[in-house]
Amino acid sequence: MQRISPRGCDQISLTTSPAPARPTCRAKKSVVMTGMESPLAVLLLATLLATAPATASSESSQYCDAGNGFGEPRRGVSSEGSPPKILIKGGTVANAHGAEVADVYVEDGIIVAVEPHIEQVGDDVTILDASGKYVMPGGIDPHTHLDVDSTGVKAVDDFFSGQAAALAGGTTMHIDFVKPSNGSLIAGVEVYKKKAQKSCMDYGFHMVIHKWDEVVSREMEVMVNEKGINSFKFFMAYKGYQMVNDEVLLQGLKKCKSLGALAMVHAENGDAVFEGQNRMIELGITGPEGHALSRPPVLEGEATARAVRLAGFVNTPLYVVHVMSIDAMEEIAKARQSGQRVIGEPVVSGLVLDDSKLWDPDFITAAKKVSVLSFPYAHFFYRVIELCTWNFRYVMSPPIRSAEHGKALQAALSTGILQLVGTDHCAFNSTQKALGIDDFRKIPNGVNGIEERMHLVWDTMVESGQISVSDYVRITSTECARIFNIYPRKGAILAGSDADIIILNPNSSFEISARNHHSRSDTNIYKGRRGKGKVEVTIAGGRIVWMDGQLKVTCGSGKFVEMPPFGYLFGGMEKEDARYLSSLRAPVKRQ
Ligand code: URP
Ligand code: ZN
Ligand code: ZN
Repeated sequence: MQRISPRGCDQISLTTSPAPARPTCRAKKSVVMTGMESPLAVLLLATLLATAPATASSESSQYCDAGNGFGEPRRGVSSEGSPPKILIKGGTVANAHGAEVADVYVEDGIIVAVEPHIEQVGDDVTILDASGKYVMPGGIDPHTHLDVDSTGVKAVDDFFSGQAAALAGGTTMHIDFVKPSNGSLIAGVEVYKKKAQKSCMDYGFHMVIHKWDEVVSREMEVMVNEKGINSFKFFMAYKGYQMVNDEVLLQGLKKCKSLGALAMVHAENGDAVFEGQNRMIELGITGPEGHALSRPPVLEGEATARAVRLAGFVNTPLYVVHVMSIDAMEEIAKARQSGQRVIGEPVVSGLVLDDSKLWDPDFITAAKKVSVLSFPYAHFFYRVIELCTWNFRYVMSPPIRSAEHGKALQAALSTGILQLVGTDHCAFNSTQKALGIDDFRKIPNGVNGIEERMHLVWDTMVESGQISVSDYVRITSTECARIFNIYPRKGAILAGSDADIIILNPNSSFEISARNHHSRSDTNIYKGRRGKGKVEVTIAGGRIVWMDGQLKVTCGSGKFVEMPPFGYLFGGMEKEDARYLSSLRAPVKRQ
């Protein structure tokens, strides 16, 4: 077997702890990254780079070019044979419904038995000792953007590298957002099916709706009835690009209801954000803090309230993605308290980070000066720009808020006001982020998280005592499977479920760094974070893909998971509708 990092996908791959697997860029990058925090370091680095710009440049870009589109994926399933038999002994099996010490036996990619003592079933069985550890369903990330093109800038992680990163962090399935292609949902799915041929773990799709007409309406039916998609997302922000108005949202909500599909919203008032952006530029605020200032919590709260009310008016379930503020969370709490079927999804960045980085003074002005002076040292120029835009990496929408919002979101998660955690993984590298050096509106929106979610949620929520281990399983896996109607195939350690399993050692610890993560991004917004609880083993589709710090993934082995309509959120809705109709006391019969 050959050792490669998951930047390409043309062979069955085995990646050891990735630092040695990516030597060229790693070595360069570590210098760059550690130099970011002080002006002195910038100068030092500048001197270093100015003395050897040519070699550094070519090596580094060779590596980076080897990223996206590195060869064509080859189906790897048959070459590896059928999945092994695995017996996991002595762990605490944690499900959302409870935890108990038990053995787990896996054959042909399926969990065959979960019982107190399972005797070894033959010599050809791989035994894993899990005593003192938790055996849990693999994480399911409900919110990712792999291989996405965002206003002409392509995210760095595709379905191979993003999923490889996920597996190394204990996530075994994700649901990605498909964009229509030239206005067609059907064409959009075809494009994404192709992108997903590289998959090394199971995945599902949500579909984005940008506009409304008869074709979209008909194609939504095709998505649900033929393509295995049971959720549609409406962007209430990104004016002039993906944003829909209330009329489109209302039509979409009605259609979702009729199809038994879940409506999802990116809830920010896009018109007001546009106004806020112009205001910041007029005030001369062009840096990343302008991003946060232009889209304050009140605009997220307003859009969430509007979406919730419109979904209530139509009487269809609503899923609010990336809840980032108290304002939005309180609207969800109110709606749920009144009996409305609303789901709130915080993302890891909103839970564990705060906005302070966006206000950090950077060295943009210095960078511009140096770049003029250093001409024609293009590489040097490039590196300094990259350095000086390090805090751009925290730019996502809605923005990462001040710390009190994160704390409140954690509390809401622990009390059931919010239901599950996603990542919104949409990774760009620092040079892509630097596109907004003169204007925060041009910074590509999105952050990493697919590899870090399981660890950060464990450390922040379980290790801190805010939730139980079973609640952890619920918010990272089971609830997602239930909402999107694939439970108990996914999201459970039960006989008959898919063998997507992690073994987490609560006494081990993790440390996050851009040097040893598996994403293709050269940055990591969680860089330097340490915590308790480490995913030591990941089993996906019955294969051990992560163990002893080694990632062993097979390009093309991931399967599309069809998600049927009318999940549990729709249960009993006809009765509610009937009650509504009878409450109208109309039409009044007149002579
Ligand atoms: O900044 C973000 N969230 N980027 C990804 C696209 C989206 O809005 O979900
Ligand atoms: Zn969004
Ligand atoms: Zn998103």
